[in-house]
Amino acid sequence: MELIDLSAHIGTEVRGIDLTQPVADADFARIRQAWIERSLLLFRGQRLQPDDLVEFSRRFGELEQPPASERSERDAAGMNGRPEVWLISNVVENGKPIGSLGAGEAEWHTDMSYIDAPPTASVLYAKEIPPVGGNTSFASMYAAWSEMPSTMKDQVEGRTAHHDSSYTSAGELRKGAAEVVDVRAAPGASHPIGRRVPDTDRQALYLGRRTNGYIEGLDVAESEKLLDELWAFCTRNEFVYEHVWQVGDLLMWDNRSAIHRREAFDSSARRVMLRTQVRGERPVA
Ligand code: OGA
Ligand code: MN
Repeated sequence: MELIDLSAHIGTEVRGIDLTQPVADADFARIRQAWIERSLLLFRGQRLQPDDLVEFSRRFGELEQPPASERSERDAAGMNGRPEVWLISNVVENGKPIGSLGAGEAEWHTDMSYIDAPPTASVLYAKEIPPVGGNTSFASMYAAWSEMPSTMKDQVEGRTAHHDSSYTSAGELRKGAAEVVDVRAAPGASHPIGRRVPDTDRQALYLGRRTNGYIEGLDVAESEKLLDELWAFCTRNEFVYEHVWQVGDLLMWDNRSAIHRREAFDSSARRVMLRTQVRGERPVA
């Protein structure tokens, strides 16, 4: 097994591992440590069935099922065979999307930060990939926190942000959600902006997503301005790794210390990914 870093601050490729086979404990310990320290793992050339994906993901903790609002109707009906595995796809069959997120851009976000205990890890496995587009980028929120200018850090240290649950990262209003007119009254959850990850004892910037975010205790106008500055800073190229997908790639990210976005792709192309996530704990400062 070989570990190769993908960029300065985030991502490590794990080579020489076939995830259809049980991973030896010693290898798994190195893999887990790399995931903790580098926030993102890449395994290429995998040929996985949903069961293999569940088996591997489960070693990182208990799996969590996606909420119904994250899942297409058809996928929720168990088309994929396993309730812990869901589909991220733009493919439409018989007039219904088989998966979630469509073919548009997905804004920078961390998964499900709008619940009290957001998932620790998310796993995405590529079965079908369009010839161009649909790249997924990741940014290190450890690096963003540690390189943040003190003038900015002083404004957020000790503060909490509210994370809105109304919209998906693809900008769609979730089933049953109402449009947000006042960010202070949006549904969702509040979390510390400087999040300490117990596994590393490092602080990560934890903002969730820009849409309807709100820094508690500030005027809405002040919060909007500061959030714009924070987002512009933490998505700078120096913190980012952009992944160009190949069929058989598996990415696993630490949802506590990384954010991600997906660029749009041609909606007539097929993109089909399997997805799992590991249950998390309430973020701490
Ligand atoms: C996700 C996600 C991005 C992509 O699965 O949480 O944001 O590239 N996916 O499909
Ligand atoms: Mn996501």
